[in-house]
Amino acid sequence: MWATFAFTAENGSGISVVIPTYNEYDNVELLFKELAKSIPKYVEYEVVIVDDNSPDGTWRRAIELLTEGTTVVRRINLKGLSTAVIDGIVFSLKEYVAVMDADLQHPPKYIELFLKKAVEEGADVVIGSRYMKGGGVEGWSKARLLASKAAGLIAKLFLPSIRRLSDPMSGFFLVKKQLVINNKERLNPQGFKVLLEILERCNPQKVIEVPYIFRSRVFGKSKLGSKVIIAYIIHILKLSGWRPFKFIAVGIAGTFVNLCTLLTFRYVMPLLYSELFILGSAIAIELSILFNFFLHEVWTFKDRRFGSLIHRLLLFHISSAISATAQYISAVSIKYGLSWSPLLAQFIGILIGFPVNYIFSELGIWRK
Ligand code: GDD
Ligand code: MN
Repeated sequence: MWATFAFTAENGSGISVVIPTYNEYDNVELLFKELAKSIPKYVEYEVVIVDDNSPDGTWRRAIELLTEGTTVVRRINLKGLSTAVIDGIVFSLKEYVAVMDADLQHPPKYIELFLKKAVEEGADVVIGSRYMKGGGVEGWSKARLLASKAAGLIAKLFLPSIRRLSDPMSGFFLVKKQLVINNKERLNPQGFKVLLEILERCNPQKVIEVPYIFRSRVFGKSKLGSKVIIAYIIHILKLSGWRPFKFIAVGIAGTFVNLCTLLTFRYVMPLLYSELFILGSAIAIELSILFNFFLHEVWTFKDRRFGSLIHRLLLFHISSAISATAQYISAVSIKYGLSWSPLLAQFIGILIGFPVNYIFSELGIWRK
């Protein structure tokens, strides 16, 4: 059945393979050979190399080896993996676009499978996944594997729409060209995770994943350095609409409400500030919780108000109580266990209690 399906230009189908390159001189020849070998003849495809004027002359090598159906885009004033991929998609002529690295860590034989899945299942995006059953990575140190998984977990905490995917950070994927073109104005590609940008900003209706093994590099070295990691964190915060910072801001404002309430009692109802402090303190805490809840409702999580308000309010109280308990336990153990100063112990307690409340809010109270 599969073999009878022809991806030809006539039926508007076929696939463009977009490959960003930077200093991959030694990989180009092998890459072209592997592509020609791995994509069956009946699949109509083109290759779009997007090189950022590599100092090692990757673009020149690609032009030397040029065959019909291959385009080399040499960008002079721009640099960056994500923007290169988006530019490559714009240059593409086919209905589907596969994006892969030039260093052969992404086996080109999967391109046919991606296309087949996309057509048969009507998917907008097909992700090559390292982290689902059957997938994997070759030759990574424990540290890099751990870092990659941690990076994925952080992204999933901040970005609910990718939570059910196993590898939304993959650099190997297929996307319908039109999906990207239709949403091009909304894209602000940066760093390495262009797939994350597409998933978050283009609102694909159907995303499927296919397992593959990420191979080790033969020539050259990875460009994923500390700059890329910082860019990654900023990228995720941006995609989240800076939600974690909003949450912190509300928390700080809530602390002021708490203290100001007490101060007000001091002048207006002095009893609550002295003999009845046991009640005054509780009222101040409750007011700050209500204040925080209200701000989260209308600001931090305004796009995530699902279900009953009372239910969310109740959950927020539970979450605040758990967070306060975590804060209390850590402050007390730091003070007595490590004999640190009370102020420092209390502050570290806050640093521990805050993420607890945030995680409950993201994953439980205002979940998507
Ligand atoms: N045009 C262009 N401009 N290409 C670039 C740039 C750039 O600034 N930086 C890197 N590339 C190209 C590389 O030449 C390679 O073909 C591809 O992008 C991936 O770069 P690597 O340096 O090999 O990245 P990696 O192997 O560490 O990371 C890969 O895996 C990650 C998942 O762990 C990439 O596929 C990432 O996109 C992916 O997130
Ligand atoms: Mn690589």
